[in-house]
Amino acid sequence: MANENSLHTSKNRKGLDSSLSEFSQQLSKACEVVLDRFKNLDDAKAYSGFSPDTVEAWFDESLPHTGMDFDELLTFIKEKVVDTATLNIGPYMYAYVMTGGNQISIIAELLATTINQNVGKWHLAPSISELEKRVVNWGAEFVGYPSTAGGVLVSGGSAANLTSLTVARNLFLEQADVRRKGLFDLPSLRVYASTEVHGCVDKSVEFLGIGSDNLQKISTNDDFAINLTELVERIEADLSAGHCPFCIVGNAGTVNTGAIDDLEKLAEIAQKYKMWFHVDGAYGGLAAAVEDRKPFFKGMEKADSLALDFHKWLYQPFEGGCALIKDWNTLHKSFYTEASYLSSDKQNDGRLDFNEYGFQLSRNAKSLKIYMTFKAFGADRLRNTIAEDIENTRYLANLVEEASDFRLSSKVILGIVCFQFLGTGDGSEADADYINQLNRKIIPALERDGRMFIAGTTLKGQSVIRACLINHRQQPKHLKRLLEVIREVGDELK
Ligand SMILES: Cc1ncc(COP(=O)(O)O)c(C=O)c1O
Repeated sequence: MANENSLHTSKNRKGLDSSLSEFSQQLSKACEVVLDRFKNLDDAKAYSGFSPDTVEAWFDESLPHTGMDFDELLTFIKEKVVDTATLNIGPYMYAYVMTGGNQISIIAELLATTINQNVGKWHLAPSISELEKRVVNWGAEFVGYPSTAGGVLVSGGSAANLTSLTVARNLFLEQADVRRKGLFDLPSLRVYASTEVHGCVDKSVEFLGIGSDNLQKISTNDDFAINLTELVERIEADLSAGHCPFCIVGNAGTVNTGAIDDLEKLAEIAQKYKMWFHVDGAYGGLAAAVEDRKPFFKGMEKADSLALDFHKWLYQPFEGGCALIKDWNTLHKSFYTEASYLSSDKQNDGRLDFNEYGFQLSRNAKSLKIYMTFKAFGADRLRNTIAEDIENTRYLANLVEEASDFRLSSKVILGIVCFQFLGTGDGSEADADYINQLNRKIIPALERDGRMFIAGTTLKGQSVIRACLINHRQQPKHLKRLLEVIREVGDELK
């Protein structure tokens, strides 16, 4: 029984809320910080350039035992977190695959956090669960994947690929009862993908107990798409050696250059050898919505599973990936586990509990920002915005081609272009080492400069600068500026 003291304490419980008027003021002040961040995106530095020691020191304090005044806290966060953040939302971010987010999603995230839904169980999040089904469906329709597809929102492309490959493994080995018995005593499962496949597929096959030695990397043609002859030869050799060809992973936009494998042919090969066909469309898949890009993606609709990333070409703030599988039942078969503490609400009224269709139990409401984005802008405007990113990439590639001190290193298929700064070189074979070194040194030099944020990669042994354009705030003037700054910084290194 509670004693008098504890009753007294709970009666006067303070909790953690402010009064509504105080909360309203706090929200307004936070909104000011948000609006301020959107001022002068063009002039702000893309990278703040503070050292790890400095940043660590800002937050180097022991556990605070008493609370801080909200205004002071907000001022500190604005100064040390918001104003120093890498400007992923600005027009001078070209590294990796960094979208700028969109403002409707910022509002959606605030609303989603307010209602704190848990999308593991339908009755914990009725509308948000239905919205998740809806955006999975719209995502599929947007890229031309069958509208009967089942799907689940996950953290990003890595999780979408892992989720898809988990379903692939569980379904492929259903007869062997792999969910219960594991992979022991089975022949080695072989997964095939090109050498350009994203590293998350390596991680996925490791997680799944398949082992990265069984991820067979097939070389690419000049256009960085998978070499189909070598693929078939490798499958045949593996069959002869007693391995079990299990899955082909096709790239619908590689992270290095945006290359797209011949997905139609990969689907045929997978069908011929009775293998699972998975497509990693995390970077490029959403560009299948763009009319003149559609032919490149032919065959993607035949994939047994497809990974998409809404925090790439749907302009979502992090996080929001999506694993699409041909039907809902397949997902359920792969992930459902009986648990008494989750079953007491069971009713046959059509409720879909997302925890039965994926790995996670507790899940946040990713669908709201995606739904509000589709509704606020409409599929046509989103499609056009992706098309503009690709157009901008072509424009940048033209600028590179026209400049005597730059050289193009990859073709533009989607929104990525790779190139080299030639410095004092004339681009001849004799210059290869000099140019390689110069382009390797230029990336950290640009980071120190901070006006542009761009990364590099290696293509066929050559160090190149890689620009990924996936930000609706980028205009041609920013692309001209990008090359000017690279030239300025590169000239210092010549
Ligand atoms: C082709 C491809 N697959 C997978 C991923 C991993 O996605 P995420 O970073 O969202 O986990 C990326 C990321 O850039 C990608 O480009």
